[in-house]
Amino acid sequence: MQWRLPSPLERLEEGLFLKRDDLIHPDFPGNKWRKLKYNVAAAKSAGRSTLLTFGGAFSNHLRATAAAGHHFGLDTIGVVRGEEHQPLNPVLARAAALGMRLTYVDRASYRRKAELEQQLRETYGDFFLIPEGGANSHALKGCAELVAEIDQDFDVLCCSSGTGATLAGVATALKPHQRAVGFSALKGDFLATAVDELQAEFGHRTGNWTIDNRFHFGGFGKRDATLTSFVDDFEKQHGIALDPVYEGKMMYAILIGRLFPPGTKLVALL
Ligand SMILES: Cc1ncc(COP(=O)(O)O)c(C=O)c1O
Repeated sequence: MQWRLPSPLERLEEGLFLKRDDLIHPDFPGNKWRKLKYNVAAAKSAGRSTLLTFGGAFSNHLRATAAAGHHFGLDTIGVVRGEEHQPLNPVLARAAALGMRLTYVDRASYRRKAELEQQLRETYGDFFLIPEGGANSHALKGCAELVAEIDQDFDVLCCSSGTGATLAGVATALKPHQRAVGFSALKGDFLATAVDELQAEFGHRTGNWTIDNRFHFGGFGKRDATLTSFVDDFEKQHGIALDPVYEGKMMYAILIGRLFPPGTKLVALL
């Protein structure tokens, strides 16, 4: 299968480039490969043959972890929040087709992470655990790497944020005159704490990033007519289908929000 690494850097308009991580590989949309690369490496060097991770029933991270196992010779277990529904939705069907063993956990038990991990270890043995959304130090290392692929000077690197791992990682690799902004795809103001904790765990805290919580459009996975028509218009104009969960919200903030002074050189991470 075709890998596109380094991912392309495309000029969208004056002062705005898109870093097309969405084109890295069809099985690893968006930042998924960046987050999984060093998790796979760590699992292998620890001699583990199984990756286990968590997610909701529509989690692209579950599907991408299944793909990582498939491509790199590791077994995978996906712990899905909620009840099993048959037939499987397309995300879980693809994960299963890639060899992932799916197991379902009710929402209350899913929240009790330590207890759940203990039970999973008793059932499945010595797996390599990747947290929900792939958000750990290995992910930060992979995300940090993408910055060196950007061969244009820029002032601000923009990304969409779910767990905050991508923002936490890229911020560690910026030059002193650069900063990063994460546009939260979720409602609430908890992501800054998450980013700070992830950087602390990674051993590299930086003060060069901020989170903009204003463009969530009602919360995770939510959208309204404004966002829908923005995404449609963007596709007509640029031929790029933005996902409305993450990319659409970020590009709306950048292009419609007019948040940056004229002349600011931006790179937006898809
Ligand atoms: C395109 C895209 N942007 C951003 C995110 C969120 O990244 P993070 O969880 O690292 O904040 C995701 C999902 O992981 C994604 O697919």
